[in-house]
Amino acid sequence: MSTIGIVMGSTSDWDVMKEAARQLKDFGIAYEARALSAHRTPLELSEWLQDMEKRGCKAFIAGAGGAAHLAGVVAAQTLLPVLGVPIPSKYLKGLDSLLSMVQMPKGIPVATFAIGEAGAANAALFTVAMLALNDAKLKRSLTAFRDKQADAVKKAKLPKL
Ligand code: RP5
Repeated sequence: MSTIGIVMGSTSDWDVMKEAARQLKDFGIAYEARALSAHRTPLELSEWLQDMEKRGCKAFIAGAGGAAHLAGVVAAQTLLPVLGVPIPSKYLKGLDSLLSMVQMPKGIPVATFAIGEAGAANAALFTVAMLALNDAKLKRSLTAFRDKQADAVKKAKLPKL
């Protein structure tokens, strides 16, 4: 079974990262979510990454805030796709998190998404699109999800002046 690993630097990131988990759950995709830090628990992070790979993980979604090196550290230790979610930070509002992911030096990529909940949800939707390449049922579900969004826009009425 395909599994996605969701990792975040702190339990305080869960409010944002749960949007990735929710989106995967809605598509019936198995995931395992852990709070593991690149700087506070580096050994445990490595062990978990290796264990997830052995258990058939297909991609990692990594969320962290501040000088958020987690996604890059994850990418350094796996050949699986790593999707980074910048978590809003107190003083720089997540711009620090964003830049630390999106500006990864050449050679070790982190596919970086928007700051916050939209980024978390979109990272999950991106993994759905990747898995749908080899899964016709999942592709139909993704098509239905897109159609539903389009219908909502088509039916929308603007308020009268
Ligand atoms: C990062 O530091 C985490 O990803 C989190 O966004 C941020 C703050 O962590 P806490 O101090 O809330 O544990 O490592």
